[in-house]
Amino acid sequence: MIYHAGNIVINIAPDMAAFNKDGARSIMDQINKKPDSVVGFATGGTPVGVYKELAELNKSGRVDFRSVTSFNLDEYYPIKRDNPQSYYRFMAENLFDHVNIQPHKVNIPNGEAADVEEECASYERKIKAAGYLDFQVLGIGSNGHIGFNEPGGKFQGATHLVTLKESTVKDNARFFGDPSDVPRNAITMGIKTIMSAKKILLLATGSVKAKVIKEALFGDITPEVPASVLQLHTNLIALLDTEAAAEIMPILEGLS
Ligand code: GLP
Repeated sequence: MIYHAGNIVINIAPDMAAFNKDGARSIMDQINKKPDSVVGFATGGTPVGVYKELAELNKSGRVDFRSVTSFNLDEYYPIKRDNPQSYYRFMAENLFDHVNIQPHKVNIPNGEAADVEEECASYERKIKAAGYLDFQVLGIGSNGHIGFNEPGGKFQGATHLVTLKESTVKDNARFFGDPSDVPRNAITMGIKTIMSAKKILLLATGSVKAKVIKEALFGDITPEVPASVLQLHTNLIALLDTEAAAEIMPILEGLS
């Protein structure tokens, strides 16, 4: 079911199969429209099924990644590339090893960089040199973060080093053996970098995201809920499952 709330298109998928198909189709449509698209990718549990579907679409010849340039949103810092929880590994396992993207066109912040400030600056320079993002896939943290832009940060920032909030360390501990193994810092595209994308696909699933989705899409626009800045974007699709959409349903029903 599709709803229009101001600038925002909200697509509520009836089940996970539809969610994954719709998410993959949006990315496919972008690449088919502009084969040399600059695409920003997100990590986390939410996009895994979307990426699986996208890999299938690539395998069946419906979308071609040959000319695509990718930039990942973020990476833990410090982290070794071969750490099973690095976003470098995540992207290889969940998408890049399964599609015909050219390795030299893949960009992920380097969690092993000796000079992290220089890594952030050079990552931002590369995004700029590529002409910024045509399309950005986004997840959302339960505290409203996008990328690793945590509550209370700036809306204007470029790629930078952040200290993760305890709530994020706790949320992401499920992927690591032990919470103490979660790196306390990360490199993330800034809000300004993210907002430069010509189109944004925000993905959220599960009841754990219901409250933050309401705050992000219909609450005050405030750095305390970084994702609320997305209300200012002119080309945003929020793809939600029914659980993540639960708290906004009364608002959406009032609109139609
Ligand atoms: C991480 C990533 C975010 C992602 C968020 C949500 O913290 N840095 O980019 O959006 O997790 O993850 P999940 O999809 O697992 O809920």
